[in-house]
Amino acid sequence: MISEPQSTYFKKLFIAAKKVRDNAHVPYSKFKVGASILTNKNIIFSGCNVENAAYPQSQCAEASAIGSMVSSGQKNILELLVIGSGDLPCSPCGGCRQRIREFASLTIPIHICNTKGHIKTLKLSDLLPDSFGPENL
Ligand code: THU
Repeated sequence: MISEPQSTYFKKLFIAAKKVRDNAHVPYSKFKVGASILTNKNIIFSGCNVENAAYPQSQCAEASAIGSMVSSGQKNILELLVIGSGDLPCSPCGGCRQRIREFASLTIPIHICNTKGHIKTLKLSDLLPDSFGPENL
């Protein structure tokens, strides 16, 4: 770990995301990503990226983790972690920031990691300022 944030669940989230990253289907980018979510019921859901020969049909790791969470009947994200491949931090893409926004408050911590460990923790509001969310409708 480069430095570990003050979070009871960081280690569990990191282990879960790293493990699921191994299952990534990435024949095109070769860039494996794992994401894990802590919900308000203290359950961790994880997911990997799933690419497709028709490139726009590919799915990010965060989308897989969110799909698993919602399929299990949960909708409240308290904390999220993303781990990419290599040395650079893997920050959630723009689309995934909005996907997270649907199920999280703007204050939740998002842990951004590389293969070795923790790089930084940001709030969702840092990643997606002035956002449009469910309350706007
Ligand atoms: N990717 C994710 O899974 N999450 C992100 O937030 C960034 C990008 C995936 C999508 C694609 O399979 C690969 O990384 C390269 O873009």
